[in-house]
Amino acid sequence: MSGEPARERADRAPRSVALLGSTGSIGTQALDVVARNRDRFRVVALAAGGGRIELLARQVAEFGPEVVAVADPAAVPALREALAGRPVKILAGPEGVAEAAAWPCDVVLNGVTGALGLTSTLAALEAGRVLALANKESLIIGGPLVKRLARPGRLLPVDSEHSALAQCLWAAGPYGPDDRRVRRLVVTASGGPFRGRNRAELAEVTPKQALAHPTWSMGPTITINSATLVNKGLEVIEAHLLFDIEYARISVMVHPQSVVHSMVEYTDGSTIAQASPPDMRLPIALALGWPERVPGAAPAVDWTRAHTWTFDPLDDEAFPAVALARSAGESGGTAPAVYNAANEVCVEAFLQGRLPFTGIVDTIASVVGEHDVLPASSVEEVLAADEWARARARELTA
Ligand SMILES: NC(=O)c1ccc[n+]([C@@H]2O[C@H](COP(=O)([O-])OP(=O)(O)OC[C@H]3O[C@@H](n4cnc5c(N)ncnc54)[C@H](OP(=O)(O)O)[C@@H]3O)[C@@H](O)[C@H]2O)c1
Repeated sequence: MSGEPARERADRAPRSVALLGSTGSIGTQALDVVARNRDRFRVVALAAGGGRIELLARQVAEFGPEVVAVADPAAVPALREALAGRPVKILAGPEGVAEAAAWPCDVVLNGVTGALGLTSTLAALEAGRVLALANKESLIIGGPLVKRLARPGRLLPVDSEHSALAQCLWAAGPYGPDDRRVRRLVVTASGGPFRGRNRAELAEVTPKQALAHPTWSMGPTITINSATLVNKGLEVIEAHLLFDIEYARISVMVHPQSVVHSMVEYTDGSTIAQASPPDMRLPIALALGWPERVPGAAPAVDWTRAHTWTFDPLDDEAFPAVALARSAGESGGTAPAVYNAANEVCVEAFLQGRLPFTGIVDTIASVVGEHDVLPASSVEEVLAADEWARARARELTA
């Protein structure tokens, strides 16, 4: 992150937005932000997988984009029929989604789930777009490739923790790599629904229990990732990549209330924190409008009543996912892609009842341990590592 924050939006024309993953949790919340701020934002492109065509068609009718893309070409006839001759260009397949990602606009929001989002991230950055990144997986697996393409100030975090870190860093004045005032980044974690349980208790957890997150309502993959703390592991890698800070200076604290979204500790002993009730519309609105704040984006903390916030160290024995992510991040190259890919397969196996809850991180550890790390110098290398890890994780969870 870099670039000077503007004090005032000079031109009042609405920002044009390309929204990828529009039918998902992030996508629908982003459209809610747009709907309530038509003077600030207008949608020019929508993209989704193709699993929820009726919803996608309703979004097209309501927001009137120039283009709509679906990853699954088989979904096109149903979409065409549902759109009933509306003047919108329809694109299909992964290439169609990539074309929507590169569509001329002021900001692209990538809200696709998982490693699939990499192509869109690369397409948006290659086209020189500003990218609001919810799809952390693409940054994590594409690491050096994504960073090389992202011009200064063009990669904006949507994850609430990284949005918080960006806000805390900017609160202390312009921030750049090697900022000597910063001692550490403190990423907060809700601890998920199983905070306080030991490994034996965790082995008994069912998919239904794991899908009920105590503070956030999100898509299924990230909800399971939050329960295993794999999501926090991915976020530590994301923080390292976004803010150019070594792993030893990134801490994780468990904060079950999910109100303090992360903090920055400065060398003079001061810590700056960002607080707001858990609501993704705030970081989404901030990323779409960066560096402006969108009034009323989400409710604020009610400062007229008492609050108790707690912060505890992470139990690395019960939840080894963060330590494992740190070591994959430190190995660098293709290791984070392998961590992520193995996780995606294991989450599916867990949801289908083929793998116990604790088996998710155990299996990721085995796959990462077997991997010969390569430098991740090309997309092909990253995708090959991703594919190898998926195949190996499938074998181990068969
Ligand atoms: N949800 C949150 O609160 C939250 C918070 C922080 C970060 N994130 C991150 O944001 C991303 C999205 O999470 P989510 O919870 O919104 O996921 P989600 O609810 O599962 O939504 C995923 C979206 O991606 C679309 N999609 C699937 N495959 C696609 C493809 N090949 N090309 C284009 N679109 C495709 C889906 O479309 P169809 O289902 O219609 O096929 C859907 O619109 C993830 O990376 C997650 O880690 C989410």
